[in-house]
Amino acid sequence: MAEYNIAVIAGDGIGTEVVPEGIRALEAVGRKFDITFRWDEKDWSCERWKKTGRMMPEDALEGIAGHDAIFLGAVGWPGVPDHVSLWGLLIPIRRVFRQYINLRPVRLFEGVRSPLADRKPGDIDFMIVRENNEGEYSEIGGRLNAGTAEEVVVQESIFTRKGVDRVLRYAFDLAQSRGKKHLTSATKSNGIIHTMPFWDERFQAMAAEYPDIRTDQYHIDILTAHFVQHPDWFDVVVGSNLFGDILSDLGPAATGTIGIAPSANLNPEREHPSMFEPVHGSAPDIAGQGIANPIGQIWSGAMMLDHLGHANAARAIVTAIERLLADGGPRTRDMGGTASTREVGMALADLV
Ligand code: NAD
Ligand code: IPM
Ligand code: MN
Repeated sequence: MAEYNIAVIAGDGIGTEVVPEGIRALEAVGRKFDITFRWDEKDWSCERWKKTGRMMPEDALEGIAGHDAIFLGAVGWPGVPDHVSLWGLLIPIRRVFRQYINLRPVRLFEGVRSPLADRKPGDIDFMIVRENNEGEYSEIGGRLNAGTAEEVVVQESIFTRKGVDRVLRYAFDLAQSRGKKHLTSATKSNGIIHTMPFWDERFQAMAAEYPDIRTDQYHIDILTAHFVQHPDWFDVVVGSNLFGDILSDLGPAATGTIGIAPSANLNPEREHPSMFEPVHGSAPDIAGQGIANPIGQIWSGAMMLDHLGHANAARAIVTAIERLLADGGPRTRDMGGTASTREVGMALADLV
């Protein structure tokens, strides 16, 4: 019997509604595959910030450093500046635990209609590998002459050779392990003169080590157009922190809704816990109504199982999602249904 200690951070808004459904599915699959989870629930959130002035306690990350994984819902709430909530919780976890890969699958399921005309399952099925520790997300910069007509705001991007090479390496290896052996790089070397030419240079140097992988690279502007017009072109797409972020909302939107999109924030060396969370945020516009789609959270749970070495249990969850959608099972409003978060979660747990 396998047993895992999982830190659970439901966070804010619909995070608190979808996380219980993720746990329900994991418990169900755990019963079948003899896996036990010890859920260590943390109240780290904007609520906590309002009460204590901190999103999480000072020694929070030391307290979960020895856990097997982190299962997170969403962070951010109106009234708390996003730079406070996200730089006070989500981003430190990604960085302190060296989760430098953000892996985000994009897939059009049977039984789901893409907003793109005539797209069928199989036409959209690729992986986004997003750099998750550096790049455009940096604290370096500042604001001069605030509030005056002479105001200037500067934000630096940081691309290290180590940081770029390790995400590219992961993406090449992933492409190598998949049938199509095709890797696309998101760039903008025609408009960003320092970082992106460097990214391209490292990409080309590494491509020489993988002669059987077909590579291409597109500037991010036309790449977003290709995501809409030719999503079937892609197998593995690698991008910087910001480009990967944008592409990983666009890709799932083309598969019907971002409500189903999962992600794995991975520390591939396994020196620190990895974190599993849906791609979406706290959705203040629908929070509290019990109508959020729990599939992104549940699929993130499958990615967690895969990471923990339970490929079959992970597969059982993904198969349950496939069956629910293909067989016209309950679905939430974002997918054209009327079911509640809980109804979808219960139906999925029954199917695993
Ligand atoms: P969002 O993803 O929260 O919502 C965007 C839109 O998608 C909304 O209309 C929402 O109702 C809908 N949506 C999102 N998830 C859904 C689901 N599971 N089911 C049905 N509909 C869903 O993005 P936003 O509005 O830009 O951000 C809201 C807050 O969440 C902000 O504070 C933002 O910083 C934060 N955020 C956090 C994360 C994270 O924790 N990883 C990710 C994105 C945004
Ligand atoms: C995501 C989110 C976060 C990001 C925000 C909330 C900081 O959009 O996980 O995609 O940009 O990484
Ligand atoms: Mn995002």
